[in-house]
Amino acid sequence: MSEIKAADKFLEVYSEKIKREGAENLLKWLKSSDFLKAPASTRFHLSREGGLAEHSLNVYRRLVKLCAAEPYQFSEETLAICGLLHDVCKADFYRTDYRNSKDESGKWVKVPYYAIDDQLPYGHGEKSVYIISGFMRLSREESMAIRWHMGGFDESVKGGSFSLNTAFQKFPLAVLVHAADLLATNLDERHLQA
Ligand SMILES: [Fe+2]
Ligand SMILES: [Fe+2]
Repeated sequence: MSEIKAADKFLEVYSEKIKREGAENLLKWLKSSDFLKAPASTRFHLSREGGLAEHSLNVYRRLVKLCAAEPYQFSEETLAICGLLHDVCKADFYRTDYRNSKDESGKWVKVPYYAIDDQLPYGHGEKSVYIISGFMRLSREESMAIRWHMGGFDESVKGGSFSLNTAFQKFPLAVLVHAADLLATNLDERHLQA
């Protein structure tokens, strides 16, 4: 999917599914940030313009599929919020830098690459919840799912926190959003490196 198509599709799903109070202002903020043009990572998956919008859509689609096979009932709006917005923390998070590299003829040229330049160092999942909550109210389960979407890769878990286990036991949606993120990143996007 091209970056233009990904951004358009993101906007289409967002407008169709997310209707709660504050959603329009959050969308305005997303558009004013680099969210729709940002990469999904510096070099691991979808490290290209529009990669973050594309990844967010992939997670949304995976989440819809996963939930259809489970006995839990989540609204379409909840699935769209968790899928499309779990990585809002990556808005205004990357910047383009340049490094020297030799081209085919052996000449030194400047090559662009993405570097991290976090404008709001508030964590990862917790930062997404913080940003979204500044515009619209999240349910307890949505907050938990977005907060813990990194699963065992979360910084606090790596630092020894056991809260993830409790969150996963109490909130099935948190397990499903993490699983959707894993499937999108490692299956849908595995051949989509920059
Ligand atoms: Fe993430
Ligand atoms: Fe993600």
